[in-house]
Amino acid sequence: MASLTSVVTVEQLRKKLDGLDRLNLADLPTPLTDCARLSEALGGPQILVKREDQTGLAFGGNKVREFEYSVAPAVEGGYDVLLHGAASQSNQSRLTAAVAAHLGLKAVIVGRKDDHAEPVNGNLFLTHLFGADVHLIENAEEKDAVIDRLEAEGHKVYNTSSDGYYLRSVSYVDGFLELWAQLQERDIEPAAVYVCSGVHTHVGLTVGAKARGIPLRIVGISPSPRDNDQANAQFAEVANEVCKILDLDLVFTADDFESYGEYAGDAYGVLTEESREAVLLVARTEGLVLDPVYTGKTFGALIDHIRQGQYTQDQTVVFVHTGGTPALFAYGNELLGL
Ligand SMILES: Cc1ncc(COP(=O)(O)O)c(C=O)c1O
Repeated sequence: MASLTSVVTVEQLRKKLDGLDRLNLADLPTPLTDCARLSEALGGPQILVKREDQTGLAFGGNKVREFEYSVAPAVEGGYDVLLHGAASQSNQSRLTAAVAAHLGLKAVIVGRKDDHAEPVNGNLFLTHLFGADVHLIENAEEKDAVIDRLEAEGHKVYNTSSDGYYLRSVSYVDGFLELWAQLQERDIEPAAVYVCSGVHTHVGLTVGAKARGIPLRIVGISPSPRDNDQANAQFAEVANEVCKILDLDLVFTADDFESYGEYAGDAYGVLTEESREAVLLVARTEGLVLDPVYTGKTFGALIDHIRQGQYTQDQTVVFVHTGGTPALFAYGNELLGL
């Protein structure tokens, strides 16, 4: 167990957050939506969806909230290029491109030439639309060559993956305060919060809960297969760095985190039967759009836990919708089985 030595008030935590540089990118607070028909279809708990897909900019998602903190040092430091490299359907690439456009910076995206790079669609299409300089590569080393070339040309390159890394988690300490205030307004104490667990949203929510002394089950579902113990240990390291930034007197260990790599399927980005079922069910009961890579897998895990009987009908579970919906267009045929 983590040694929880000090709990802070909302005001104290907010003051610490307010002391950090922050851009104004997201439409906040995001809604907390009741999904009664979905709950009924599953015969499960009340399901509330925290709509981080509705953060506003460029089809939204958790990155918009994260970038408010994590890209602030780029502006402060006079960087002129925002760079990101990941899968061809990366949401972070889309939002790196959109935020660069919004701030008047150059975006350079070094994406993977993977199975969803052709035809140009979804996030990749939007990344082009926002005017990014897009390189699709087959070997990771090509990314270093692009960075070297930009720096040789005199550009100051800010990598939205690695620069401001811990600040991305900090943004979800703020996200936790927002969510908890919405729950308190409705007098709801959820039995659990489900979130797609890359790193930052999961870590930030967990730090926020512990800092406030709120014992809350936060379940993180990974979009990639991974070792759960290793992932939880990594999250604890990130959480401890967040505590340093916010000057919080807390120590995290792997035991503070609950995460599952087993809902990802064989690899990142592959459509699983559970994700497909989740995307279709949520769309057809609520008119709510999930994505196949992140939120579909996370909701698939929640469906599994409900079917295992982990929740009763009088409980409430919060599902954090972290966005990613543009990728849906690159998976249309697979999703509908066409
Ligand atoms: C839709 C979506 N959800 C969740 C995540 C995980 O993000 P993080 O590790 O920043 O919480 C990502 C990351 O790319 C994403 O695009």
